[in-house]
Amino acid sequence: MKLAVGQMEPKICNTEENLVRVKAILKEAEKANVDVLVLPELCNSGYVFKDISEATDSAESIPKGPLSRELIAWSERGRLVVAGICEHSDVGLYNSAGIFARGKHIATYRKIHLFLNEKDWFRPGQEEPPVIEYNGYHFGVMICFDWIFPEVTRLLALKGAQVILHPANLVLPYCQNAMVTRSIENRVFTATANRIGTEREVEFSGLSQITDIRGNRLCQMKKEEVGIVSVIIDPALADNKSITERNDVLGDRQPKLYTRITQDD
Ligand code: ACM
Repeated sequence: MKLAVGQMEPKICNTEENLVRVKAILKEAEKANVDVLVLPELCNSGYVFKDISEATDSAESIPKGPLSRELIAWSERGRLVVAGICEHSDVGLYNSAGIFARGKHIATYRKIHLFLNEKDWFRPGQEEPPVIEYNGYHFGVMICFDWIFPEVTRLLALKGAQVILHPANLVLPYCQNAMVTRSIENRVFTATANRIGTEREVEFSGLSQITDIRGNRLCQMKKEEVGIVSVIIDPALADNKSITERNDVLGDRQPKLYTRITQDD
């Protein structure tokens, strides 16, 4: 299975130009015969809104909006694509990941951990991050700042995810390294698709990457590079959770001793 991350620079509030930029990435992924593609967070809208009206004007409904339709079309030839979308719903805006496969909208994940000013524009998602099946393999989805909550990756691994697809607009310098640890502690592949550029003085870090179940970086893009990078993976390797001959990263857990993790205070 060929897995790719796409790295690009969305322009703030310029949905038309962003669609053109996404199409260029899709074309490159098509040429490279990619099966599964991850695109950055909020790739229809950009990230650093001045006010809620900018976010509202850049948002689209999923799956009727123009970016969603483009992604559905790209996925038609038996492919899977996950992209960050500024989503307009009946009740408000969400920072979402649209998941499309085989010409259909499969699911939408609405980011549950909002970062900084995202709290001013978006509602936090109220549903568990999903694991979806594609070609007999299992893919979990989370968005950007979810990385700092190891519970999210663990939850996805417990739900059977073999590969974590991770649209991002990374600002803090830690995530790419943290995802190495997320891979090791869950024995999963991860694919983080980040954006590049500086938007209204906020700098994004690029360095999109794919890690394997031992935390090896299989590939990584440069900080300012635009395009895709891809690797062939066997997601089934993630079914082996044994880290020594006597230790299993899921089977050795002692959840009765961790109940504080799910308490509110
Ligand atoms: C982030 O969650 N976009 C930092």
